[in-house]
Amino acid sequence: MSDIIILAIESSCDDTGAAVVANGNILANVVASQSIHEKWGGVVPELASRAHMQHIVPVVHEALQIAEIDKKNLSAVALTAGPGLIGSLLVGATFAKSFALALDIPLISVNHLQAHVMALLIDEPKPSFPFLCLLVSGGHTQLIVVKAPLEFEIIGQTTDDAAGEAFDKTAKILGLTYPGGPLLDKLAQQGNHTIHKFPKPQIAELDFSFSGFKTSVLYYIEKQKKLNPDFVAENINDLCAAIQYTIVETLTDKVLKAIEQTGITQVAIAGGVAANSGLRLKLQLLSQQKGFDLYIPAFQYCTDNAAMIAITAHYQYMKNDFADQSLAPYPRVSV
Ligand SMILES: Nc1ncnc2c1ncn2[C@@H]1O[C@H](COP(=O)(O)OP(=O)(O)OP(=O)(O)O)[C@@H](O)[C@H]1O
Ligand SMILES: [Mg+2]
Repeated sequence: MSDIIILAIESSCDDTGAAVVANGNILANVVASQSIHEKWGGVVPELASRAHMQHIVPVVHEALQIAEIDKKNLSAVALTAGPGLIGSLLVGATFAKSFALALDIPLISVNHLQAHVMALLIDEPKPSFPFLCLLVSGGHTQLIVVKAPLEFEIIGQTTDDAAGEAFDKTAKILGLTYPGGPLLDKLAQQGNHTIHKFPKPQIAELDFSFSGFKTSVLYYIEKQKKLNPDFVAENINDLCAAIQYTIVETLTDKVLKAIEQTGITQVAIAGGVAANSGLRLKLQLLSQQKGFDLYIPAFQYCTDNAAMIAITAHYQYMKNDFADQSLAPYPRVSV
């Protein structure tokens, strides 16, 4: 069989990514991030679309160059079809469709959330099937049983905010710059989580809810600021530690519950929040205590990247799962 070489494009939010995968091995993974949104405290969709327009061609060229692949040797072009910001998705999809049309090769339509989970199949060691995956990203929080490559069953999810939003929105309350999650993580590492206490969100079964938690942080800060206007500045590390502790405990409690309910002992995390040091540490500790095997993707495969789109596309290619030129991106969908 000839080589399967795929160019993959990711443009669902504010990162423009291109990757090349050959027979399931990632040869290049290029990401251009957009710092333009920082001053607005969140992603501005129109600015994101424009920045994708600027970045997409150079990013693709760089990926092909790093991979040392001539575009004539590509077997297919893959793209993130959704979920995501529609304007951002359209840039990647239009580019990918044109590229595939010009080269007369097939298109592969990839679900961004499935790709976050499939990132676990990039590097060794890989989990064996079935495995349990906690998908924690900026827009989603789900517990998924992965039965086989591209075979997913959602067994729990958030009813409102995602874990990434809980990090970003509480970080914003503390006055940290967007996206607050990584900065909150850094400060939390220098803090003591026992000084301030926030209630853990209580919700049935394997579901999650973070909007009440965000409100409880807001009320607590407002109350303390009335007593001491410098409260946040004087307590920033301990506040970050308490917030991170509460989110991590909430997530890991449900992971343990899911292990108990399913009997699955191959456990993985995926998505941007999988980069969180507190979550990684707690799960590593629990895996030793409870005897489950833990898998965490490399940092560059946790937040948005095209390598995860590429690996997903590789498996779709093997199943002859191709899209045609009538493909339209979808802003909302689950795994
Ligand atoms: N170290 C960290 N600690 C906590 N949160 C983090 C960390 N690093 C990244 N994040 C959070 O991860 C999120 C970004 O992840 P990701 O790129 O997977 O989400 P997204 O693509 O915006 O959402 P989705 O994939 O659901 O569409 C942000 O909310 C960011 O704050
Ligand atoms: Mg994402």
